[in-house]
Amino acid sequence: MTSSLRISIPRPIDAHLHLRDGRSLSSTVAASARQFGRAVVMPNLLPPVVRCSEALAYRDRILAACPPDLSFQPMMTLYLSENTRIEDIDQACAEPDIYAVKLYPAGATTHSEAGVGHIDRVMPVLERMAERGLPLLIHGEVTDPDIDIFDREAVFIERTLIPLRRRLPELPIVLEHITTREAVDYVQAQNGRFAATLTAHHLLHDRNDMLVGGMRPHFFCLPILKRREHRQALLAAATSGDPRFFLGTDSAPHAQHAKESACACAGCYTAPVALELYAEAFASCAALDRLADFASRHAAHFYGVPVDTQEITLSAQTWTQAERLPYLDGHIIPFRAGSELQWRLEDAV
Ligand code: DOR
Ligand code: ZN
Repeated sequence: MTSSLRISIPRPIDAHLHLRDGRSLSSTVAASARQFGRAVVMPNLLPPVVRCSEALAYRDRILAACPPDLSFQPMMTLYLSENTRIEDIDQACAEPDIYAVKLYPAGATTHSEAGVGHIDRVMPVLERMAERGLPLLIHGEVTDPDIDIFDREAVFIERTLIPLRRRLPELPIVLEHITTREAVDYVQAQNGRFAATLTAHHLLHDRNDMLVGGMRPHFFCLPILKRREHRQALLAAATSGDPRFFLGTDSAPHAQHAKESACACAGCYTAPVALELYAEAFASCAALDRLADFASRHAAHFYGVPVDTQEITLSAQTWTQAERLPYLDGHIIPFRAGSELQWRLEDAV
């Protein structure tokens, strides 16, 4: 099907992105810079990006990997560890390229081993962030082995987030990649500088897509896809116009062999077709007129950066995405590889 329907929006912000490091950057940065003008870059490298000097050196490597015809602003983050010092927070606040600190509960996800065992151990650092207004980005899942993987986000809100908010109501927070109705309800009840990111894959898919008719590792991510009623709550939140919800892909590249394995890594590589996927999600709710706010404005306001003056254009057309892309010495399987997409990002002229 070819149609003349087109939509132009300010170049969006990906408010949650994994780019990895080293030779991966030549693939990952180009894919995101084609789609986004800015991205909030996750710090879960090996070793993690804990100090400001490490974040700035990482930023330089990202910029060096960016194709010269594309402009791309990496918004850097620090990895909160139990070794993070108050002076790291003060330095981050003085550094215009560092925008936030990321909390990974230790053991929650990829490269989270150096994360936080118990939130009490980082309370002095969080207090300083609250005083200084530096946002905390949260991977909101408990790691308690007794808690079912499908319940880990809702239990995190009860056990960790509600007490944290009570203790530090001024701390700016982004609850990252929310996946449940409970998280939507919680975010909607918050005041002040509190927001949540939503991935394209959680807006478009539920756990049946991952598990019915065979186990599809390219749909496996953390937090894991939930049942359909949660997806519907996420779609309603994303398309509601509420500025507390904004785009964050959580695009997380893993080489083909690491995904297609007896113990598959968590992460969906959505970056190459991210805006196509979000357009499909918004079109499914007849809400394309709200895409620009969700993708380009809400995160800009939250982080205090200008809305991009350049635009990107998506057109309604059916096309088939690549089966695989070159990555390191092998390949990577992009999300929805080889399948038909209904929207296409036009190349900038
Ligand atoms: O699926 C995920 N992959 N979730 C995360 O939280 C981390 C990410 C990664 O870095 O691979
Ligand atoms: Zn992530």
